[in-house]
Amino acid sequence: MPLSQQIEALRSHFLEDLNKVATTKDIESLKIKYLGKKGPISALLQELRHASAQDIPRFGKWINDLKEELMAHCENTLARMQAQELKSSLSKEWLDVTLPGRRNFLGRKHPIQQMLEKVLDILVGMGFSVQYGPDVDTDYYNFEALNFAKDHPARDMQDTFYLSKEWLLRTHTSNVQVHAMQSCKPPIRIIAPGRAFRNENISARSHVFFHQVEGIYVDVGVTFADLMATLEEFIRKLLGKKAEVRFRPSFFPFVEPGLEVDARCTRCFGEGCRVCKHSGWLEILGAGMVHPNVLKKGSIDPEIYTGYAWGLGIERLTMLFFDIPDIRMFTENDLRFLEQFL
Ligand code: PHE
Repeated sequence: MPLSQQIEALRSHFLEDLNKVATTKDIESLKIKYLGKKGPISALLQELRHASAQDIPRFGKWINDLKEELMAHCENTLARMQAQELKSSLSKEWLDVTLPGRRNFLGRKHPIQQMLEKVLDILVGMGFSVQYGPDVDTDYYNFEALNFAKDHPARDMQDTFYLSKEWLLRTHTSNVQVHAMQSCKPPIRIIAPGRAFRNENISARSHVFFHQVEGIYVDVGVTFADLMATLEEFIRKLLGKKAEVRFRPSFFPFVEPGLEVDARCTRCFGEGCRVCKHSGWLEILGAGMVHPNVLKKGSIDPEIYTGYAWGLGIERLTMLFFDIPDIRMFTENDLRFLEQFL
């Protein structure tokens, strides 16, 4: 078949195929079929080798013109289809520009953390420096060096989480008293915030872990009057100038004398309410003069030095401050709860 006829036939085949094209993908395959390396146009260009020298430029031009013509058909059809596809997808999909934007939640400090910071601020302002002790400690630091007798009930499995015979989760932050006395010489004037753990039934008022702020002051001539004045000042700074403070004798093995310190209920001002269990008073902390045996274990001579110490529970105070009815709320991580504390 003469070349001119072959070209004619190719063109009409192509146009027939082009008519059947339905998607942009079809156009891609059509392009490959006719204009690809193994397609008929490439074959025609191969054939040129057998033409006479005078025909080659003429025939070459015919073939190349055809190639460009088919290419242009493909490009035009593709552009048309793409425009159509865009138009139809735009008419199907739509965007509601009146929808509210996605909210970014602002992080908030946990109420316990807020309370801790408040307490530390006041005590640092009164001259104490902050020291941290280990949550996991030995029987020696948690009990032995604090003058707990070997058969003291607090050492019982029911109260203490033992990790081994020797290691345990500290049941109070008082272990830091011993670490502090071992690592510094008097005057020692530190506070130690941290977690404590006790194997108790979880209820609205008690949990297996909670926070305390320990305080200890050891120096020459530290007296019981210093302890009372310091705690009174601290509680007034925390609860307000008019706060009333009450000291009650109590027992802890590592202090002598020991006391418990109450503040007038901040809800009912002494009239009696649910928060203070109708006593009019809130138990805030345990305290006392550091026992001579404890000073000795810390290599401090009790003939020269005296000291006082206290342990303050943070959960109870936080519940009071923010009017939180159940201690379990602190650990449930419910955003509806946590979001309320700005
Ligand atoms: N460690 C005691 C407790 O957890 C509190 C306390 C600390 C009492 C220091 C006296 C002195 O209950």
